[in-house]
Amino acid sequence: MKKRLLLLAASAALLFTGCRKETDPSYGWVRKGIETATAQLLRTSGEVAHTGMLPRSIWVGYDMDLLCAQLERDPATFKDSLRVMPVEKLGERRLCHIYDWTSGFYPGTLWYLYKLTGHPELLRYAIHFTNLLYPVREYTGTHDLGFMINCSFGNAARLAPHDSIAPILVQTADNLIARFDPQIGCIRSWDFGWWNFPVIIDNMMNLDLLFEASRITGNPRYREVGIRHALVTMEHHFRPDHSSYHVVSYHNDGTVEAQETHQGKNHESSWARGQAWALYGYVSCYQETGNPAFLKKAEAIARFIMERVTTEDRIPYWDYDAPDTPETPRDASAASVTASALIQLSTLVSNGEPYLTYAETLLKNLSGPGYLARPGENQGFILMHSTGSLPNGSEIDTPLNYADYYYLEALKRYMDLKGLTI
Ligand code: GLY
Repeated sequence: MKKRLLLLAASAALLFTGCRKETDPSYGWVRKGIETATAQLLRTSGEVAHTGMLPRSIWVGYDMDLLCAQLERDPATFKDSLRVMPVEKLGERRLCHIYDWTSGFYPGTLWYLYKLTGHPELLRYAIHFTNLLYPVREYTGTHDLGFMINCSFGNAARLAPHDSIAPILVQTADNLIARFDPQIGCIRSWDFGWWNFPVIIDNMMNLDLLFEASRITGNPRYREVGIRHALVTMEHHFRPDHSSYHVVSYHNDGTVEAQETHQGKNHESSWARGQAWALYGYVSCYQETGNPAFLKKAEAIARFIMERVTTEDRIPYWDYDAPDTPETPRDASAASVTASALIQLSTLVSNGEPYLTYAETLLKNLSGPGYLARPGENQGFILMHSTGSLPNGSEIDTPLNYADYYYLEALKRYMDLKGLTI
């Protein structure tokens, strides 16, 4: 497998011949983002490659007073659910194994950056970290297979198509649709917790893998499952204002058992990354199907996000209902996902300018000193200030590999749209 993927290097490198320099000073922030990313990823890859693991975040602890203030709750109501952090590791780079839900993001980030720069070392590392995930094609224990395999092998295939990759994508898609329940009309998300059949809004992000599997095989089944999941989710995950619940659980007959949160402030709040996953998911579904209901939903979610954000720089707090205070943690990952989705959305409608302008604001701010790491710092991650799961005391105000991934994806989409090259 490794050898066959290595063969991709030659064809991928060809894609970069003929790049011209973009010197327009008004896009200096784009160049700064890419230069920083290149320095960070080369350093990180060199330090991590020998471990067989992948970079995920920085180990951080939590402050009980901050959590109580953010959640507006008494510690007795949630302290038992808090994760125990390894104190000896605080401040160190947190690595993950290949079965972690975030394992695909680091290889995917390397693919995007290689595509943007043509740097041969980045290609070498992209192949190395992608190949680590080869066993994941047999994994059945989560819905996150799309994140894991589509961001790693899927990006390898899009950058440098090769017939060694298609079977990996299809096998993984088979495992993903094995989690689909036709009575309920959804793919099951988690195998833990008290819920009968939990479906989280994040699951919308796994549908692209199914669309791809139908394209590869010519078998419409994968696509049909994805579309059904999106339609049922549209019915039960959203409130009248188009904000999304995080978790919806179903009874076996397809009726709703519960509408809840796991990572947001409370069951009726709007967890920032959840809204971003929803937006991105429905933009993808519209792009794939042309179904106007998906576009309507994507635009309604976009409006919700743009109207509900309260921060001056538009990088949201970790929940759109979090207290509007200087201490409230931001979530740069939600901003990255939102920016990437809005750029795509701007290309699918007749007046996409407001979406593109908003995305540009997000990207410019993420590329500024408030969020972009200084080279050599931030344990080699690109962006600072994301929040993983505040109510569980996990990854609060830290870099996250998926913030970096969607930041680079958004930068690439932005550059493609503007005709910029490095
Ligand atoms: N998919 C898990 C998260 O967004 O934190």
